[in-house]
Amino acid sequence: MTMKINRNDPCWCKSGKKYKTCHQAFDEKIALAAAKGHIVPPRSIIKNAEQIAGIRESCKINIAVLDYIEEHIHVGMNTAEIDKIVYDMTTRMGGIPAPLHYQGYPYSVCTSVNEQVCHGFPSEKVVLQDGDIINVDVSTILNGYFSDSSRMFCIGEVSPEKKKLVQVTKECVELGLQEVKPWGFLGDMGQAVHDHAFANGYTVVREIGGHGVGLEFHEEPWVGYNSKRGQEMLMVPGMIFTIEPMVNMGKADIYVDDENDWEVYTEDGKPSAQWEIMVLVTEDGHEVLCW
Ligand code: MF3
Ligand code: CO
Repeated sequence: MTMKINRNDPCWCKSGKKYKTCHQAFDEKIALAAAKGHIVPPRSIIKNAEQIAGIRESCKINIAVLDYIEEHIHVGMNTAEIDKIVYDMTTRMGGIPAPLHYQGYPYSVCTSVNEQVCHGFPSEKVVLQDGDIINVDVSTILNGYFSDSSRMFCIGEVSPEKKKLVQVTKECVELGLQEVKPWGFLGDMGQAVHDHAFANGYTVVREIGGHGVGLEFHEEPWVGYNSKRGQEMLMVPGMIFTIEPMVNMGKADIYVDDENDWEVYTEDGKPSAQWEIMVLVTEDGHEVLCW
């Protein structure tokens, strides 16, 4: 239950501004959408300017870490080296790697190679080979604010088929991003992602999606890509979420390694790619916070 706020009361978003000049009109629009039967965001995931500023700082570390890896990743490197780079760089910059000990996850980063879909464990035994594709998924906590993004890297000479998978997956994220604007729906984004993957003969993993992020590692909403235009949660200014489709060259089916309950693979052993960006819905569109 929410108490009615008077026009001159401080806004619920803790901006310090009066409700009437802050989120009153916003709340009215949301109430209208809810009355029409749409899924609307809870207040808990709407960030104010101060929170957004803090999240941006966290994102800067995330971007710097991925930029460094992009420059230094190479054939013959093992993925435990990537884990060490992420831990060392993040902590040196004052942050904490968000994956470390998250629900028992034992490393600072996820490194998922070829048919590994996500949550790959960094290991000295995983040595990058010529022709591999790898997703490096970095998440950072800085002063309590969370950031999360991932990139694909092609190691040495990669086959045209795998290169195309990596490229199309990136395009999926870019096309999804174009749909991110206030008072649209998450399904607008999801369908754009899915349609592009599908048009290229690929499939999109159904069980694992993106998520709200910023004040927590994983917040509402859950962000899927098998959704339809005009459906799912209403996108509103101050919302932050990830777009991170896992696109498979073969079938969409996946399984989780039952030895560790983390590492996810394609059922058919064909390659999978993923890019992840973190996006803020603004008053007139969107802002990519990290990539
Ligand atoms: N970075 C991943 C994501 O995009 C989080 C993986 S959970 C972890 O949501 F524990 F492996 F970090
Ligand atoms: Co994520």
